[in-house]
Amino acid sequence: MVLDIGESCSGARSGRRPPKVEGPSVARFPKPAEGTWTEHHPALGTGPVSFEDSVSPAFYELEREAIFKRTWLNVGRMEQLPRNGSYFTRDLPGLRTSIIVSRDVDGRVRAFHNVCRHRGNKLLWEGTPSDETGGNARRFVCRYHGWRYGLDGACTYVHQENEFFGLRKDELRLAPVHCETWAGFIFVNLSREPRETLRSFLGTMVGALEGYPFHKMNERYSFRAENASNWKVFSDAFQEYYHVPPLHTHQLGPTPEAQNPEYEFEGAHYQIDGPHRMVTTSGTYKHRWSLEHLYPTEVLTRSGSTGPWDAPDLGGTLPGVNPSGISRWGIDNFQVFPNLEILIYERGWFVTYRYWPTSYNTHVFEGDLYFVPAQNVRERLAHEYAALTFKEYGLQDVGTLDGTQMGLEQGAFREFPLNDQEILVRHFHKTVGDWVDAYARERVEAAPR
Ligand code: FES
Ligand SMILES: [Fe+2]
Repeated sequence: MVLDIGESCSGARSGRRPPKVEGPSVARFPKPAEGTWTEHHPALGTGPVSFEDSVSPAFYELEREAIFKRTWLNVGRMEQLPRNGSYFTRDLPGLRTSIIVSRDVDGRVRAFHNVCRHRGNKLLWEGTPSDETGGNARRFVCRYHGWRYGLDGACTYVHQENEFFGLRKDELRLAPVHCETWAGFIFVNLSREPRETLRSFLGTMVGALEGYPFHKMNERYSFRAENASNWKVFSDAFQEYYHVPPLHTHQLGPTPEAQNPEYEFEGAHYQIDGPHRMVTTSGTYKHRWSLEHLYPTEVLTRSGSTGPWDAPDLGGTLPGVNPSGISRWGIDNFQVFPNLEILIYERGWFVTYRYWPTSYNTHVFEGDLYFVPAQNVRERLAHEYAALTFKEYGLQDVGTLDGTQMGLEQGAFREFPLNDQEILVRHFHKTVGDWVDAYARERVEAAPR
């Protein structure tokens, strides 16, 4: 039985390409100009690339200041603040910071440093001070001496207030953190004064997703892992599909053709916009070749590594996705600088990845899958099977992480060759380096002479 599959983006240059199928003829790799993806961006160069930025403790210290403390960071989604009075805390240990994100009585989303104004106690936690918390509240109460704060951060109660010396309670507040939302994503900026608004920072390419119905997908599956690598080393693994056949040999199906580790797989479209990047691939079950190319559990659950087969009706047109109009569009992976990825699937679900550095060679990874809430058992099974296979393939990616970090730290090589399919890795490291260089220059210029 042959499924509706059209032409293939993968296997196209392989001598072991899958059986030919009937379908419209479309340019497979509509590059923006003649030549390679990389050569279309001369600033990136084509030479070998240093990964010193992933093994240097000194670079890590600069990176925290130059990037993570100066730009917009996604800390959650609006679905985590379902009503006025909802709040959650986010601990960012690599930045030695914990924040409270709350929705005040007027519905406004705010963020504060999670620190009591009295003597600096961490204000909110669950169980132990290193655990995040959340819920619904009318006020925040410090466990130490009982000071209270409204959802807008104003201090509303000081225990034995008349014991203090000239204390003006009405002038005391939690320290605010800049907080803006976009398309239901909540971002904070830890700098004193952000250099640009969130919307301006996101630019044209990411900003075009503004009307995408992310909010309809609020059945969430979350994964968190503490990994022994620099945060960029893991992010690199999701910026190219060059590694798919050798590393995820079973992802493309059970047939000998698909399980050939020399099988060739290519992204169909790459795009760069300021510090942000995206790659489009084919890769839904529709692009498999026949039932023989699917695992029995995939057929049973109507789901798999590329998600549920049956797409919900999201209504209307979907802005921002598949910007190059690939006929076999399967997945867009938008990489929002510095540490957020949004993967949007043609089958009407999405995934986010976030990478939080905790040292030069460790980080916390968060993966979240979002679906339109299941209406029946079959849909729920499809979602859970997609989450299960996500974890399986995530573990395969994690499996090489320590090895890459160890290899890089050994210092046997100073630079590494990158191919055209690794253009986004090249762009990512260049962008990180540019931000750190700009920060270092500013510090030199600001230093007293
Ligand atoms: S430190 Fe919070 S009330 Fe004293
Ligand atoms: Fe992978």
